[in-house]
Amino acid sequence: ATKDPYINAIPKVELHVHIEGIISADLKWKFSQRNGQPIINPRTGRAFSSLEELRDSHNTLKPSIGNRMNNSEETLSFFEAYYGGFEALKTQQDYYDLAMDYYEHAAAMNVRYAEIFFDPQGHTRFGASWETMMQGFREAQQKAEQALHVRSGWIMCFLRDESPESAMEHYNAALQYRDMIVGIGLDSNEVDRPPSLFEEVFLRARKDGFRLTAHCDVGKPYPLEHIHQVVSTMAGGGTDRIDHGLNAAGDPDLVNLIKEKDLGMTICPWSYIRHQPLDEVFERIRALFDAGIRITIASDDPAFMEDTWVQENLLVAKKYCNFTNSEIQRLAQNAINESWVSEDVKNRLL
Ligand code: ADE
Ligand code: ZN
Repeated sequence: ATKDPYINAIPKVELHVHIEGIISADLKWKFSQRNGQPIINPRTGRAFSSLEELRDSHNTLKPSIGNRMNNSEETLSFFEAYYGGFEALKTQQDYYDLAMDYYEHAAAMNVRYAEIFFDPQGHTRFGASWETMMQGFREAQQKAEQALHVRSGWIMCFLRDESPESAMEHYNAALQYRDMIVGIGLDSNEVDRPPSLFEEVFLRARKDGFRLTAHCDVGKPYPLEHIHQVVSTMAGGGTDRIDHGLNAAGDPDLVNLIKEKDLGMTICPWSYIRHQPLDEVFERIRALFDAGIRITIASDDPAFMEDTWVQENLLVAKKYCNFTNSEIQRLAQNAINESWVSEDVKNRLL
């Protein structure tokens, strides 16, 4: 729990957390030991020889407030460390344990409902079968609902640095599990990968009745044009939510457009502190909130930050944006309103 009783107590809905973003060094080590499979350091080509060494490689990634990350040659990039976690997952039990790890954290934080991202392409490229992956997730999802009273749905993300053809193949394969999947997203490395590359599969998903969202990452490498596409043109008229998208706060026309379309935005403060000036991050979050945009606070990749889950993200937002308790309550309510669960369940979440 955090030091803030109000944040601890309120019922929460989380709309932006990557299941692979909770693969800590410890979890990765547990899976790799259990499966007799070494974890290779992509910088050296050698296996990590101990949990401590693996933890250190993760620690180099971690941000701390006011002390932005220093990307040296030896530092694993976020994506190197993140995709390293996928390789450790082999069995249905691994997928089950991974998802249960999230649900147990969620229950302890009074999270009542979560929409959880997963990246199937990252798993199939290491040879995972859909069945292994989805049955592990499904069993955990059912167990969490019954034993922990945490409900959830899955958002299947396409890796934008993979091809549109691969996205379409994975889309087709996933239809077998569509009862678990509430929406479609777009993530991974955004450099030179505009959302429009994935228009065909997004349009198809829209026609098939899925809800849509897409990551628009924060910082200089990510052009406003990507946010424009997500808001206005993607899937023949724009998606239903935007993930991150904080760059929009620097463009009044875009802010107005997001507001007019009443799009929800999932905001994950700890992710931005890694590489953005602190003042700018929180000024922008505050500005979007004050403009009346329905932002929600979420965690993104807790294991790659400072073990910062949704409650820690709410805490840092409260502190640096000066949100009052009633504003925190509004952020929590935004997450319920912006979720893709049925109206019937929505009314019973609090
Ligand atoms: N996938 C998991 N975390 C991500 C992030 N922060 N940005 C883009 N893709 C991601
Ligand atoms: Zn994300």
